[in-house]
Amino acid sequence: MNKRLVSGIQPSGSLHLGNYLGAIKQWVELQSDYDSIYFVADYHALSAKTDPVEYQQQVLETLAMIIALGVDPKNAKLFIQSQIPEHAELSWLLSSYVSIGQLNRMTQYKEKSNRQGQNAALLTYPILMAADVLIYDAEVVPVGDDQVQHLELTREIARAVNNHLGQVFVEPKPLLGHSSRIMSLQDPQIKMSKSVAGSAIGLLDDEATVIRTIKRAVTDSDPNSPKISPAIKNLFDILSGVSDQATVSKFEKLRVNGSLRYSELKEALVEELLAFLRPVQKTFHALIKEESNLLKIVELGTEQVRPIAIAKLREVKKALGLL
Ligand code: ADP
Ligand code: TRP
Repeated sequence: MNKRLVSGIQPSGSLHLGNYLGAIKQWVELQSDYDSIYFVADYHALSAKTDPVEYQQQVLETLAMIIALGVDPKNAKLFIQSQIPEHAELSWLLSSYVSIGQLNRMTQYKEKSNRQGQNAALLTYPILMAADVLIYDAEVVPVGDDQVQHLELTREIARAVNNHLGQVFVEPKPLLGHSSRIMSLQDPQIKMSKSVAGSAIGLLDDEATVIRTIKRAVTDSDPNSPKISPAIKNLFDILSGVSDQATVSKFEKLRVNGSLRYSELKEALVEELLAFLRPVQKTFHALIKEESNLLKIVELGTEQVRPIAIAKLREVKKALGLL
């Protein structure tokens, strides 16, 4: 029996290259090596209060994009979080094992509550995330760098429960990929994010947008300074995420020789990005047209996974002394 791997992604708007390189690329690479469970975290993103009709579309689009990027429902189990209500129930049970101080320390809460207000769901969100993972006894969780703190809290929660009730939960480990933190194309000090204009390449961006965004991406004044700048390192990270080793090595050599021209690096980047995005977008558009097909895929995933969640929740309730 393979080790179990669980990961989720929020359906908060269309996905960008950071989401792919930081998270979903690993989902694809690891899907056959583990007992893999992936889901659209639609309960998580509710705190943004999107229009309901739009939200439904976003959930379906996120699902279609995950598949278009290469997650194969034959290898991995795919579902939508709200369709397995046991996650939310476990989240309530776990909340007695977390302090407000622990939640207040979460960097993402500080950032998001500054922008969106101090919504209680934003604060308690890491408890639901812990439930998402612990309910399946996941051993590994592939995520981007920004989720590591949430997973550390998940481990603390698992330990607190185990200390109280005996060995109930497995302590999961985060699994970081090569590009666990892709930076904004406008400012290499902040992460690529869909909420900052010009910062991201959207996976559904058209050719003209990709060209414009890469052209405007910040670099630095000296292509051949011996030390690689954060902006250029980021462009190299993106290049190596979407192209082959030979292309990366070619530019790496030019950089080390002192003969790298940013315009050439950017041209190659555009070319490689478009070659990556074209087939993904084609598959995405075909999938999104067949809504019933997408729903069938998650129905099957739910059928496979829900019994695990039900059994774990029952075990926890019993351990807690609930009748
Ligand atoms: P966003 O920050 O754009 O709202 P999410 O929080 O929904 O994205 O993140 C979904 C997944 O993508 C997470 O695993 C997260 O770690 C990863 N991720 C998001 N942005 C980046 C980035 N800039 N670099 C690497 N991984 C990222
Ligand atoms: N919190 C993650 C994010 O913002 C999404 C998520 C929810 C998740 N539940 C999870 C990731 C469980 C891994 C495991 O991207």
